[in-house]
Amino acid sequence: MADIKIDLYSDTATQPTQAMRAFMCRAEVGDEQKGEDPSVNALQAMVADMLGKEAALFLPSGTMCNQISYAVHCRAGNLILLDRTAHPLISEAGGAAVLARATLYPIDGANGMFTPEQMAEVMLPATRYRPPFRLVCVEQTTNMPGGRIWPIEQIRAVCDTARENGALTHMDGARLLNASVATGIAPKVYADSFDTLWIDLSKGLGAPVGAVLAGSSDFILKAWQWKQRIGGAMRQAGIIAAAGIYALNHHVERMAEDHAHAKRLAEGIAGAPGIGIDVESVETNMVRFDVSESGISAQAFGDQLLAESGVRVSVIGPSLIRLIPHIGISTADVDEAAQAICRLAEKVRREMEV
Ligand SMILES: Cc1ncc(COP(=O)(O)O)c(C=O)c1O
Repeated sequence: MADIKIDLYSDTATQPTQAMRAFMCRAEVGDEQKGEDPSVNALQAMVADMLGKEAALFLPSGTMCNQISYAVHCRAGNLILLDRTAHPLISEAGGAAVLARATLYPIDGANGMFTPEQMAEVMLPATRYRPPFRLVCVEQTTNMPGGRIWPIEQIRAVCDTARENGALTHMDGARLLNASVATGIAPKVYADSFDTLWIDLSKGLGAPVGAVLAGSSDFILKAWQWKQRIGGAMRQAGIIAAAGIYALNHHVERMAEDHAHAKRLAEGIAGAPGIGIDVESVETNMVRFDVSESGISAQAFGDQLLAESGVRVSVIGPSLIRLIPHIGISTADVDEAAQAICRLAEKVRREMEV
């Protein structure tokens, strides 16, 4: 594989900073399963407070947060409504069918965001034929559609509609803090509409591992049982929880820099031959562009870019590429990546003309 010089594949590509590593080394630890790890307990208290919920639970991944929430909320055969691009539908290995034994019911929102009207069309009362909708899920920000932010009014309307139809509400907040930094709306305000939600520590926040799920004390007790059941309970996990504490204290506001870098990247490649991009659609840390006009596939474009410039991107469709600046990416990296993309686009155009 070619050397990766600038890794824009994902915000999961971050390396812990030296300061974060030093903080982790000093972490006080104990037996997490027994509730005796002071660093895990501190992280959970911090997130519960930040999200305005009674309790929180440290888990190894965001995927486990979604899956445990589904398992706690749903009975076998229940329906879970979510957008067709949502992570649990496309990237969680069918977990909802295995653990909660529930059915994911996708609808086609705009940029990953659906409306109360769309919900009302499908959320019909349960009958002897039709199973009940038990849960409605919102992904903030929307990943596949490119880091788009659910407006707070739409969140409130969607959650009200869910409740009117007898369903609970859950937020996949893998990038909730990106939304908060971009809009200035506190995480608590977004969280208020949801029964349960979680944030990821290992994305824009730059921690190496972990996510924190929050909700009522009763929900978190049941979530603890699932964590134990599926082997997610740990021992001296404070060493990794400390990275989360450090990130929440030092890396939240700095995500504005990632957002500015995403915009700069989009502006830098707009106008390159064969590249379709909507600069206005860049709301947080993600940039998507389309290469269908270039005459080569996204995979070929991504492979050539890596081979020729050491810039790694994510291929998310036959002609779609996604880039995500993060804490390990400087302004100089952004400019170099934009130049490399423009150079390649120009080269592809010349080759197509021959
Ligand atoms: C929107 C969304 N939800 C859930 C996840 C899963 O998070 P994790 O990788 O921590 O399991 C991801 C990961 O990329 C994501 O983007």
